[in-house]
Parts: sequence; structure tokens; C-alpha cells
Amino acid sequence: MAGLIPQDFIDDLLSRTDIVDVIGDYVQLRKAGKDFQGLCPFHTEKTPSFTVSQLKQFYHCFGCGANGSVIGFLMDYNHLDFVEAIKELASRAGMELPENNEIGRKRPDNEPIYSLLEDAARFFSLQLRQHPQKERAVHYLKNRGLTGKIAAMYRIGFAPPGWDNLLKTIGKSSEHLDLLQRAGLTIEKEGNDKSEKHYYDRFRDRIMFPIQDYKGRVIGFGGRIIDQGEPKYLNCPETPVFHKGRELYGLYEARKYCRDLDRILVVEGYMDVVALAQYDLQNTVATLGTAITSDHIQRLFKTTSEIVYCFDGDNAGRRAAWKALELSLPLLKEGRAVQFLFLPEGEDPDSMVRSRGKDFFENRENFTSLSDFLFTTLLQDVDIHRLEGRARLVDLAKPLIARLPQGALRSLMQQQLSELSRLTTDQIRQLVPPPYPEVEKPKPVQRSTTRRHRRLTRSLVEQAIHILLNYPHFALEIEFPMELEELTDPHLPLIQELIGLISDKPDITTGQLLEHWRNKKVYPTLAELVMARKELPESAIKTEYEGILQGLKNHLLKQRRSAVIQTSNGKITEQIKDVFRRKKQDQG
Ligand code: UTP
Ligand code: MN
Repeated sequence: MAGLIPQDFIDDLLSRTDIVDVIGDYVQLRKAGKDFQGLCPFHTEKTPSFTVSQLKQFYHCFGCGANGSVIGFLMDYNHLDFVEAIKELASRAGMELPENNEIGRKRPDNEPIYSLLEDAARFFSLQLRQHPQKERAVHYLKNRGLTGKIAAMYRIGFAPPGWDNLLKTIGKSSEHLDLLQRAGLTIEKEGNDKSEKHYYDRFRDRIMFPIQDYKGRVIGFGGRIIDQGEPKYLNCPETPVFHKGRELYGLYEARKYCRDLDRILVVEGYMDVVALAQYDLQNTVATLGTAITSDHIQRLFKTTSEIVYCFDGDNAGRRAAWKALELSLPLLKEGRAVQFLFLPEGEDPDSMVRSRGKDFFENRENFTSLSDFLFTTLLQDVDIHRLEGRARLVDLAKPLIARLPQGALRSLMQQQLSELSRLTTDQIRQLVPPPYPEVEKPKPVQRSTTRRHRRLTRSLVEQAIHILLNYPHFALEIEFPMELEELTDPHLPLIQELIGLISDKPDITTGQLLEHWRNKKVYPTLAELVMARKELPESAIKTEYEGILQGLKNHLLKQRRSAVIQTSNGKITEQIKDVFRRKKQDQG
């Protein structure tokens, strides 16, 4: 939603608003030193720990951790969404919302689209039972080993041959045409007569797989050609209700049909999902012809604690698995696990379950752990016999391990890296940047107080960010050394963006700065950094900031010295296999 309101407007609005004024309407505030204090409206307390800073245009409760700008306060206090909070502030400030902008309009009503998609699903499923040509479809499905029971459970249907079967059924009024088009079920035809629009059915002569959201609402379809032809699968395009980067085929069914979902299998195709379901493995989902996203994985971890990525054994499958690994790392909180199930070349889950049965997908011995997959993949690119190769291994593994949250897995991976590289675990620990606090957006009100104290050590770049958020004008007074761009620190882009914003708008406040990251993963972390430090005189903090920059320069020198020449690609040598063999023996 935030994207729809120009950032300039938000900046301007915030510079005309005083957070103390606004919050003062809801909470009794008293001046305490530079700041204002009151009883926190987000938790029950007897002594005030709710602090509002006029200078920073930011509030923070030292009791419950709630924090934010004036926009965030209105959203949380009055249960408004972002746009509503902006409207409220704009009317206080006597500002007009920009014209020609989505914000003025009411949010579009998607109900008719959902209901149309439901009608379409019923129509397709009826055709599989009634259409004169249903036999071809039924025969195809049977041939692929699917029973009527599974077809019914997954609401599989049949789009008959012809250009307007669905169109005729739904109706061709302009209202219907508009809805069908918005639901992604029709295609607009280029006619001779440009003034009139013509449409035809998107799905013709195909097996239909309805895709349902978490509530069981149909949001789109995938359609497979019967037997041979191109394209093999056709999917609905992105629509107001269908987002491929977020939805997973089979997730609704998995939740509906599995008593406990302690594990979910992620596969590539619709057919794989239903084939596994046929073998009583309903805990299977597929992406919708797209690569897996972090959104997908977060969604899965809301439902299960273990994900098994089951991809083909070919190169494409391994690449997909690697991507899944990278995206999973930051989400691997304690209690969650990720595994990989690689299939032999030329097989997919559908063929595999027929030849090897259900057991193949349930037997832990077939799974590759995340750490094994990570290290074997990296070891393919380094020569572990040589010092430079081991240094390279550390360089490659470092940023990956850095993404893991604090916990046993992170420690064990560091230990594994230490064994392979022959550096001590302490040395490894020093080389790996500290983890970022949780990436999932926490609920501000229920946050525990321990959160503020959890991390005592922050990287130098994080410390610099911390200071700049609180004292933006330091960015103007003290130059950020150009050469630091070379640093391999995950937070470098953030500090560069921060400095850019401050140079563009020298009097920007902390609250305004933070609004630029409202929809980003780092927002909660940044917000927490604002008031967490104990107050020192500004001059002392300035000296500290200068010291940090000097420290970063020293760090850069070290980084340059330890950079090693990348060794040429090599296959896993016998010795590396030995390392793993020995480990296995040690474990077993
Ligand atoms: P596959 O080509 O691996 O097909 O595509 P499959 O799932 O094994 O299908 P069968 O067994 O031949 O019926 C995997 C997934 O990639 C997307 C679909 O989501 C499909 O399920 N895909 C594939 C498309 O979107 N379009 C295509 O033309 C092919
Ligand atoms: Mn297949």
C-alpha cells in the first residue's frame, strides 16, 4: 500500500507534523529531559516507559519494545492501515492527498472475481463428468494412475475443446466479460473492428487444476494439455487475487487432508502433487511454474517445521535446490529444518513414487541435509588440498552461514567449516558476520523486553548505521570514506542508502528516515536501533562514529590482504570425499 503514495508526499507530510502533538492527543505526555514520557498505551504499566522524542520524531516503549514514527503510532493505536493513517495526518496538516492516485479510491472489491473463479472450477469439474468428450480426459488421468477420489479431492476438471465454452456458461454481458478477463480466464482478441472487444477462453481442451488459497477460495488455474502439445501447461496470469510468488499449489489441500503436517514436500509440478497424493502423501505442494520465493518458504514454515525440497537430479533441479537453500537460511530459526531429496536424472516425483513407492519420500536416509548440500556444492569449486582453496571455501561459506539466525545450526555449520578449512572455530566465528535479528515482522505490541538485549555485539557497519539513524547530520559533517565501498559487509548497501537520503534532505528526522524502509525486512531492526542506546553527550557519540569509520578502514586493509586468488574449478577429489566419509563414520 505504501508504494501507492509518493515518498515525497510522506516526507513532506512528516515534516509538517509533530509526533508529540499527535501522540499527545491520545497519551498524557510529560517533558522528561529532551524527550516526553507517558504511560505506554500498548501494554499495562504503572511507571512511564513510553518515550516520545521530538527531535527524532519517533516513539519507543522501553517496557514492551513498541516503537515507530507518528504513522506507525496511528496505525497501531487506532488500528488503521497505512493509507488511513496518512489520510488522518494529512487532514490534520491541512494537506491534500495527491490527485490521480489509487489512494483516493476505494480498495477494489475482489469478491466478484472469487465467485466467478469458483463458478469456473465447478464448470470444469462438471465437464469431467458430463461432457460428451470427457472420455479423453478421464482416460488420460486414469492412464496416469489417478483415481476419481484424488480427482475429486483436488477438484480436477476438464476444459472442453472450443473457443467459448466457459464464456457461454458464465455469460457475455460486458460485466461478465470484464470479470472473466480480470480473473485471467479469457484472452482478448485483436479484431479488425478496434472499437469492439472480443474475447475467447484461455483454457481449451485441457485438464484443469484449480489453485486454492489458504481459505480454500479458487484463485487461479493451471491447465495441462491432454497428451502431447505446446505449451504443456498453461497458467492463469497474475491477477488481483492470484500471485504466483506467494501461492503454492496443494497447500490448502495438504492442510485439509493431513492430520499433522510435521513435514511438507516441495515439488515442481501439479502432476507431482496429485501423483504423490495418490500414494497417500498429501503433504506435498508445488510452485506455480515459477522459482520458489522467500514468501513461499515463510508461508510453509507457518504450517510445518520441516521442509523437504524435492527437485530433479539434473542441473536445473540442483540450481533450484540451491536457490531454495539460500532463501531458507535466514528463516531457519530453532525448531525448523530443511532437507533435500534429489531424484535420479530423468525422474520426477510422479515417476519415482510409482517405481519406488511412498517409502522413498519418507525414508530419512534418502534426504540430504542442508549442511551436506551446502558444503558438497562449495567443495566442488575449491581445491581443499591447498591453503588458498581452503581460504576460498571460507570466503564462499561465510556469507551463507552469516544468513543463519543464532542457534545450534549456525554453530555447527561454523564448526564444520572450521574442520574443513583447518581454522579454529574462534577464527571462523570472527570471520562470519553476526546474524541479523529475525526477518519476519514481529508484532510490536507483544514483543518481549529481552529482545532489546539479545545482541550485544554488532558489526561496525551496524554500529555506524545505528549512530546515523540517531544523528543523521553526522553523515553531512563526517565524510564516509569512498574506499569502504569495497567492504564485503551485508549491511553496506543500507548505510549507503542512508547516507544518500540524508544528503538529499539534510534536515531529515529519524522518523522520516525510517519511513523509507517501512515495507522492507530490515525495518523492525532499524526501528529497534533508534532508542536502544544509552544517552551520551553528542560530542562523545561523534568521536565514537569517527572511531568506527577508522575501524572499518583497518578492516578493509585486512580484507584486502587476505583476499586470495580464486582457484580454478575442480571436481570433488578423493580427499574431500574422505573428509565426509570420515565424518559419517564418526557420526555412525
Ligand atoms: P514439468 O515439465 O516438469 O512437467 O513442469 P510435469 O509436472 O512433470 O508434468 P507432466 O508429468 O509432464 O504432466 C513442471 C511445472 O512447470 C510448470 C508447471 O507448473 C508444471 O507443473 N510448467 C511446465 C509450465 O508452467 N508450463 C509448461 O509448459 C511446462
Ligand atoms: Mn511429470
